[in-house]
Amino acid sequence: MSRWLRGLLALGLVAMSTSAFAADAPVRGDVRRGWDAFISKACVRCHAIWGHGGEIGPDLGRTRAGGLTDAELAAAMWNHIPRMWDKKQEEGIPHVAISETEMADLFAYLSFVRALDEPGDPKTGQVLLKEKKCSTCHTVTDEGHGVAPDLRKWAKYRNPAVWAQVMFEHAGKMVEEMKARGITPPTLESADLVHIVSYVRSLSASSDSELLDPGDPVLGEKLFHERKCIQCHSIRGQGGNVGPDLGRRGWVTSFTDVTVKAWNRVGGMRNAMAQRKVEPPKLTPQEMAHIVSFLFASSYADPPGSAERGARLLKDKSCLQCHGAGIGPSLEDFRGRAGPVTVTQALWMHGPTMLERMRDLGIRWPSFTGEEMRDLAAALNEAQPQKGPGPDAPKK
Ligand code: HEC
Ligand code: HEC
Ligand code: HEC
Ligand code: HEC
Repeated sequence: MSRWLRGLLALGLVAMSTSAFAADAPVRGDVRRGWDAFISKACVRCHAIWGHGGEIGPDLGRTRAGGLTDAELAAAMWNHIPRMWDKKQEEGIPHVAISETEMADLFAYLSFVRALDEPGDPKTGQVLLKEKKCSTCHTVTDEGHGVAPDLRKWAKYRNPAVWAQVMFEHAGKMVEEMKARGITPPTLESADLVHIVSYVRSLSASSDSELLDPGDPVLGEKLFHERKCIQCHSIRGQGGNVGPDLGRRGWVTSFTDVTVKAWNRVGGMRNAMAQRKVEPPKLTPQEMAHIVSFLFASSYADPPGSAERGARLLKDKSCLQCHGAGIGPSLEDFRGRAGPVTVTQALWMHGPTMLERMRDLGIRWPSFTGEEMRDLAAALNEAQPQKGPGPDAPKK
């Protein structure tokens, strides 16, 4: 299994730096280290990724297909403490310490999984290549008709963003060619392209693979300005309004989905460029990887929470019955550094003890939504939720 999953990592290598937009920005997660932590911290004993791994908890490649923000992930981890803890004891799985950096790595790894697609099915891809008429022009075998380039040369690229770049670059000519042949440009679903790519890959004899550097959302943002995408597109309200806002919540579900969405609307985009005499931007695959990872991160960025609502939550969720009341430690330490990663890490370390105390006192484990998690982090960041440690507050 481990070999399979290493292959999985090589698949995309578009590291998402989840923390680029999170409150706890100084801790930047690393996808590869996150995968190591997923194994060494025993997550894999209970959780699978796309069917590979344990079956005690949900498959983390398949739950919530629409994607989660960091705060929503933190809330899901918070809510799962009681069941996870009971299962751990039942199965005799040790509770391993996780540091802040390791938790940031785990967050980066899980958002990377969210950004990829489940591996496609080559057989479905073969059917789609015909159905979507790609094979009327493109060759994928040695006895092709050769109107358009052989797609097999792209098989070596493991990063789905490459397909965004090549299709983007050639869309103009491709659409003309289709019109000349009376073919309506086909609309794609993102799953279609996932299957097509996996079929093309299965045909490639060479096991060469070209791994792009991890896409970096910070560089992607820079390119988004430099290459003038911003003239026509805004990111959550900031920028042009000729094309759609590319920061809107959840408009893409994966990297491949960015490619497909751009492909489906490329005709309109080309027209807008022609009208404004904007040259279609030339991008290298690497640059596209940065832009795609920026767009993905923007559409899953958490809006800021409300410290005021968070302070109310601390009260309503019975936190203050213990914190500041001599049973739980002071939460002062979190001031200026509370975010999904830091809160989840503290919870991982202290949750089990906290759970026992709650059970002793007959308090139900409070559950959180993503929005409440944002508010909680905002309150911990700003305010002083209570006076300080009580006399018998446990030491960390
Ligand atoms: C002993 C088994 C076990 C271990 C170890 C474990 N989990 Fe879980 N996890 C579960 C169970 C069971 C659930 C479902 C909980 C529920 O339904 O309340 C869950 C749920 C989750 C969820 C929420 C999924 C969703 O879609 O709602 C996330 C995220 C998660 N776990 C992440 C992790 C990570 C990361 C690790 C390692 C640091 C980990 N888990 C370790 C058993 C485990
Ligand atoms: C009517 C013919 C035609 C159809 C149908 C067609 N293409 Fe193309 N495609 C072309 C041509 C011509 C080019 C080269 C354009 C250029 O040189 O700018 C191209 C280029 C490409 C490229 C870049 C290839 C390279 O090596 O540079 C990709 C990827 C691609 N097409 C994918 C697809 C997919 C996926 C489909 C089906 C959804 C499809 N094409 C349907 C004619 C077509
Ligand atoms: C001259 C204006 C213009 C520029 C510059 C431009 N776009 Fe667009 N873009 C559009 C328009 C208009 C649409 C919508 C077309 C339609 O609806 O048919 C669009 C659609 C898109 C979509 C699909 C969005 C969706 O919601 O489905 C993506 C993705 C996209 N553009 C990415 C980019 C990127 C990346 C750049 C920079 C490299 C860029 N665009 C530059 C005008 C532009
Ligand atoms: C029944 C008492 C009790 C309740 C209710 C309670 N906690 Fe705790 N909490 C504790 C204890 C005890 C610890 C320390 C556990 C340990 O030492 O491992 C703790 C630890 C923590 C920590 C880690 C502190 C650190 O310094 O790393 C955080 C964060 C936390 N709690 C948040 C909350 C929030 C938010 C709520 C309300 C939703 C809450 N707690 C409700 C008893 C409680």
